[in-house]
Amino acid sequence: MPSEEFIVTPWEVEGHVDYNKLMLLFGTQPIDDELLARFQKLVGEIPLMLRRQVFFSHRDLDWILDTYEAGEKFVLYTGRGPSGQTHLGHLMPWMFTKYLQDVFGADLYFQMTDDEKFLQKDELSANATRSFSYDNCLDLIALGFDPEKTRIFLDTEYVKTLYPIALEVAKRITFSAARAVFGFDASANIGMIFFTSMQSAPAFLPSILAGRNVPVLIPCAIDQDPHFRIARDAAPKMGYYKPALIYSRFFPSLLGMDKMSASLPDTSIFTTDTPEEARKKISNAFTGGRPTAEEQRRLGANPDICPIYDLYLFHFFEKDEDVAKLYNAECKGGNILCGEDKQRLIKIVVDFVKEHQRKRRQYLDKAREILQVG
Ligand code: TRP
Repeated sequence: MPSEEFIVTPWEVEGHVDYNKLMLLFGTQPIDDELLARFQKLVGEIPLMLRRQVFFSHRDLDWILDTYEAGEKFVLYTGRGPSGQTHLGHLMPWMFTKYLQDVFGADLYFQMTDDEKFLQKDELSANATRSFSYDNCLDLIALGFDPEKTRIFLDTEYVKTLYPIALEVAKRITFSAARAVFGFDASANIGMIFFTSMQSAPAFLPSILAGRNVPVLIPCAIDQDPHFRIARDAAPKMGYYKPALIYSRFFPSLLGMDKMSASLPDTSIFTTDTPEEARKKISNAFTGGRPTAEEQRRLGANPDICPIYDLYLFHFFEKDEDVAKLYNAECKGGNILCGEDKQRLIKIVVDFVKEHQRKRRQYLDKAREILQVG
């Protein structure tokens, strides 16, 4: 594959992703200054994830804000494919979802697609994806989602509610549309081909439960767009609003690839990592640094390709001034060495993970109760 090319599907991210090209390819819109100004006006600030363009693209976000301004409440929907432990890359979009829940007072539907991960991953049994669902659910609850406004469900358990909706979607999607959107070849198992209708279903659930059309906003990483192109095609045929989307970039891998991956453990910091494990992974991480300290001091380093910089940018530096200082003076200006920069980050990340684990432990017995069944 030539280096300027890349592949993004819900099940594969490969190559160096050019997000501007990806928006053109998928047909999604950038989150522009006008939208940011509307956020400022509606909620009194531009949240970090939007200011720093972690969430950078959308479909119909302007329409969601129109309906909100007109006094209509929207519902949030997002999800998780439980294929392993949760890592920091998963937490960031969930934290942003929680922020949206708080500022807009929105209900949230959260789908655990244990069916998807069972179908997709040869090595995972149905029991494994189910138990990862319970485990991942602890991470979600630990973030403090309002239990009154949040429904978390596991596909294989909530199937009685989801299946009739999935059937309505499935009947309206041809195999050739699914193949074009997901790139299936003849070796794909038939469960994977049907699965997208299960991921579409929760986008229509709020309308079905309310007995009227309800606007839905889905925060997620942009690799999920193929599913929601399908859902949006089916929506008017089923008499529903098209779901709106707000898309994030991928959380960078510590080894310098484009996406943190749960299947390559050293690329990600898991919420269950010990301080020692987190320390080791950050210490070994790829950076945009120079081969020698002398060169770095003289020429500066490259934050644009550096996952350590990205961790600060995506979450760990709250103040924009700190990010700007790191980018310009410290990193590009050659005033900090990567080792020092990593030591500083290790402290912050270890504290964050410890605190998260403390909250997570409180809910150990709760996950089973909280997940919706039937
Ligand atoms: N397919 C997603 C994943 O593999 C999980 C998911 C289900 C999801 N429904 C969603 C993600 C809605 C975002 C929005 O992680």
